[in-house]
Amino acid sequence: MRTEGFSYREIARDGDARRGVFTTPRAVVQTPVFMPVGTLATVKSQSPDEIEATGARLILANTYHLWLRPGAEIVDAMGGVQKFQSWPHAVLTDSGGFQVFSLADLRTIDDEGVSFKSHLDGRPLRLTPEESMRIQALLGSDVAMAFDECPPGGAERPIIEKALRRTSAWARRCLLSPWREGQARFGIVQGATHVDLRLSHLDEIAGMEAGGREFDGIALGGFSVGEPIPEMYRALSEITPKMPTDKPRYLMGVGTPYDLLHAIGCGIDLFDCVLPTRNARNAQALTWSGRVNMKQARHKRDESPIDRECDCPVCARHSRAYLHHLIRAEEMLGARLLTQHNLWFYGALTRRAREKIEAGGYHAWAAEAAAKMREGDE
Ligand code: GUN
Ligand code: ZN
Repeated sequence: MRTEGFSYREIARDGDARRGVFTTPRAVVQTPVFMPVGTLATVKSQSPDEIEATGARLILANTYHLWLRPGAEIVDAMGGVQKFQSWPHAVLTDSGGFQVFSLADLRTIDDEGVSFKSHLDGRPLRLTPEESMRIQALLGSDVAMAFDECPPGGAERPIIEKALRRTSAWARRCLLSPWREGQARFGIVQGATHVDLRLSHLDEIAGMEAGGREFDGIALGGFSVGEPIPEMYRALSEITPKMPTDKPRYLMGVGTPYDLLHAIGCGIDLFDCVLPTRNARNAQALTWSGRVNMKQARHKRDESPIDRECDCPVCARHSRAYLHHLIRAEEMLGARLLTQHNLWFYGALTRRAREKIEAGGYHAWAAEAAAKMREGDE
């Protein structure tokens, strides 16, 4: 059985690329789409109105962070993670394991779960599939992710195989955990860049049924963790077309504009990544002509916008000279405006991709757009 109120419908195809509509009780999400990262129930520096204006309808939050601060019980008492931050659309929560592996100290993993120390105050904590599902139910996100083990990039095959067995056992326990009404659950496929391992794990996760439930969407985890980019692209080309067609396909933690263009061409529907928001705070603007470092002195007297092809409110109003000045003076408005532009760019990139898939010219357009960006990258 699938979760009531959630559905995915494919409305156009262009080769392996697909254009669809993911409907949830709180949002109608046009795919392919990018989900801005709002780890702590805030997309850093942006207001809900600003996020909405970029076209986003589904944003991400993190179980691990919200569990530590302010606490899942508080978010629940405040009406859930959407109402708490006054976000009028949908929220997806990652399950916590991946963040524990990248942030927390002194982790030990066993078949039951993960023990670690809080990155905030060092207190000992433990996450299990059941605990992650309980916390995500309290947070009240629209989509909860299964609790998985993502092996480090470059791990040996036996280590990856062990993580796959554990991730499958944990996925089953996630399906068996008490379900919150109106909350969907997505399963996660691991296997690094080993296509054979990926395909057999995909079979397992996509075909999994426990307690009368199945996953409402399928995610690919464990990409963009240090493997060579051509290997990631090759694996995505072989795996994505074999994913179920009647559920959303989510590529976790990816990626650059190039990664999105490639993965959309393979048939991915959902993306999230800190790149547009984090890089904005490091003075990097993403444009249709490549990456621009706004710190560079050449912008000092430049009256032009960040990107002439961008129709965002920042490019409509502000010059490169002004943004350069704000960044050099470490004024917080600089990071805010660059974040808004970068999220707008990701929104525009996926909107244009959707139009091209519908019109039937996606692949030629994507190759051309990527070539133009690469030429201008600094
Ligand atoms: N975010 C990016 N990659 C991953 C992954 O492999 N697992 C989870 N849970 N989240 C991710
Ligand atoms: Zn702009």
